[in-house]
Amino acid sequence: MNLKIAVLAGDGIGPEVTAQAIQTLNAIAEVYDHEFTYTEALVGAIAIDKTGDPLPQGTLDVCENSDAVLFGAIGDPKYDNNPSAKIRPEQGLLKLRKTLGLFGNIRPMKAYATLLDKSPLRRDIIEGADFTIYRELTGGIYFGEKQLSEDGNYASDLCAYAKEEIERIAHLAFKAARNRRKKLTLVDKANVLETSRLWRKIVTAIGKSYSDVQLDFLFVDNAAMQIILNPKQFDVVLTENMFGDIISDEASIIGGSIGLMASASVGSEIALFEPIHGSYPQAKGKDIANPVASILSAAMLLEHFDLVDEAELIHQAVERSLELGIVTPDLNPESRYGTAKVGAFIADYIQNYDGELFINKDNIDMGQSTII
Ligand code: IPM
Ligand code: MG
Repeated sequence: MNLKIAVLAGDGIGPEVTAQAIQTLNAIAEVYDHEFTYTEALVGAIAIDKTGDPLPQGTLDVCENSDAVLFGAIGDPKYDNNPSAKIRPEQGLLKLRKTLGLFGNIRPMKAYATLLDKSPLRRDIIEGADFTIYRELTGGIYFGEKQLSEDGNYASDLCAYAKEEIERIAHLAFKAARNRRKKLTLVDKANVLETSRLWRKIVTAIGKSYSDVQLDFLFVDNAAMQIILNPKQFDVVLTENMFGDIISDEASIIGGSIGLMASASVGSEIALFEPIHGSYPQAKGKDIANPVASILSAAMLLEHFDLVDEAELIHQAVERSLELGIVTPDLNPESRYGTAKVGAFIADYIQNYDGELFINKDNIDMGQSTII
């Protein structure tokens, strides 16, 4: 298959982790005889520095002429610490999502068997947890009208949803549930918010045509507690933009590190794939950021194009790296492996995978083998 991939590495650790995802994709291309071509484009703080715009038109053009977008991370402390900055890196990502029509953000969460003791949550709570969050991505409070009074003493952000915006993501989530354990939980705040009551009404109506899927509801405050109290109860979680942003960071604790959590943003012809973590500026250039979230986002990209075996091989390579302890310091503070070595191992595994025979643990333990 030929795929044109726009690469928007962005800020902070974005470029380092994205480089490893590309290395992984190249390994896959070689093994399965695909042709992936990459076009890099600017986004975020780096785009503001170079062009004054967090999403220059040239970047949008590159995305629109590609089959998919591989996104790194966005954000910079110089903006976080300056609430009066008018132009902000995050605007680039939000505009990109909106312009490309990426209304559905899919965030898989699972507890890896080998990492059960890395999570601050108890093993018996997380063992076997495996659910996917469907987060609405182009509506709600993120995109409603914003106001700041002239004197700077009053501000508001409008949370608004239209029926169609709820319907289209609800269908995606129900279909996903159908292919999983057939349970869908709508997370909302219907005891307080009008928008949430609209969500409940519409999702309940749609649920009638997915009678094989069990639908239930949780208020977001309760959901925030249930996610860490009993995460195994969830299969597919459907929620609006802001709640999805918050509970997905929370849920990443189950996996042991937010550095493992990938996502796909879908809705139109061009889908976007990005780790759920941010730009982690403190780690920039230090070769300590976990590249796995970006690598698994690349796997989601392949899955999106039905390259299921290829995606599966990436998952296998990642699981092997976790089993062997070839992990970045977020998963093991004593680890001597950095971003590049973890990425190199995963790419090497893919290229040399040969049934049972592949790994020579002694080589890995020596640190500088041909495998690492
Ligand atoms: C995410 C991020 C973004 C969001 C930021 C960077 C705008 O937190 O993708 O979860 O809030 O959607
Ligand atoms: Mg977030």
